[in-house]
Amino acid sequence: MARTRIGVVGAGFVGMTVAQRIAEKQIGDVILTDIVEGMPQGKGLDMCEAGPIERYDSHVTGTNSLDDLRGCDLVVVTAGLPRKPGMTREDLIDKNAEILRSVAGKVAAAAPDAILVMVSNPLDIMTYLAWKLTNFPKQRIVGMAGVLDSARFSWFVAEKLNCSMQDITAMVLGGHGDAMVPMPRYTTVSGIPITDLMSESEINALVQRTRDGGAEIVKLLKTGSAYYAPSAAVAAMVASILRDERRILPSAAILDGEYGLKGTCIGVPCVLGRNGIEKVIELKLTETEAVALRKSADEVRKGIEHLKL
Ligand code: NAI
Ligand code: 2OP
Repeated sequence: MARTRIGVVGAGFVGMTVAQRIAEKQIGDVILTDIVEGMPQGKGLDMCEAGPIERYDSHVTGTNSLDDLRGCDLVVVTAGLPRKPGMTREDLIDKNAEILRSVAGKVAAAAPDAILVMVSNPLDIMTYLAWKLTNFPKQRIVGMAGVLDSARFSWFVAEKLNCSMQDITAMVLGGHGDAMVPMPRYTTVSGIPITDLMSESEINALVQRTRDGGAEIVKLLKTGSAYYAPSAAVAAMVASILRDERRILPSAAILDGEYGLKGTCIGVPCVLGRNGIEKVIELKLTETEAVALRKSADEVRKGIEHLKL
């Protein structure tokens, strides 16, 4: 039986840690690509050499050619600039759109049946652009952000309540921008909604810290942005898709009427399985939640309009 092949475009901080997590979880072989000569080859070789110690059998092959993605079952796209302190994710739009335009067609030609997991920022806009550039069915275009933002929310809840992170399930919807929509009503500790465990003002503070979660790390690192939690989020999505686990994970999806939105892309709960987005789950939102989601979708729409597609 052929081994599962997973492409990773961009071997920077997120790309290399995605490759490492996929190898360590033995989800499949990784083809790690970048434009910097020798760098993905060096990182790939290093990860293969870690295999005998960590006891995994996934191969990580570095390359500078996107043609080597041929036959990939899934491709993760992380190529693009990260933020610097003071920048919003939207400030990256022109440069990262240019990079995506240079890679998307080649990825689609090499791996026409692949599922694409987008990571480059601004995430929802790049996911929408990837859909337009590849012409892939919308089920096969998935953006990673909601799993990361939900994990951040979970950690802040665990820290505040001084309890284990393991029993927390959080949900963050909307675009991966300052207007994202953390959902306290759907955030639970061992099934108990946090609204029963914390005051409104405590929850509001954690919601705001979640919205600012990416910027908090950028400010501390000073160069570059987060990658440990982002790569963990990507690996969870990749496993759910390729192992057909059908987990319900918040993912950026191209919407076609769901949540009253059409021709846009934002984070919504999705069943992720072997066909990509198997189903978008439509939650019954309160008026306040619906207003917040529309506001977030408006921000994404402005970015998509800026691309003049
Ligand atoms: P990085 O700068 O460490 O890595 C980016 C890599 O892309 C570099 O190695 C660069 O050489 C490569 N690259 C540039 N043009 C390329 C091309 N045409 N083909 C192949 N590779 C190319 O940045 P990092 O930290 O890995 O972040 C990558 C992107 O992911 C950024 O846009 C960042 O904002 C985004 N990001 C998104 C997250 C999310 O939640 N969706 C979370 C974390 C990062
Ligand atoms: C984050 O939220 C940079 O979007 C990335 O960390």
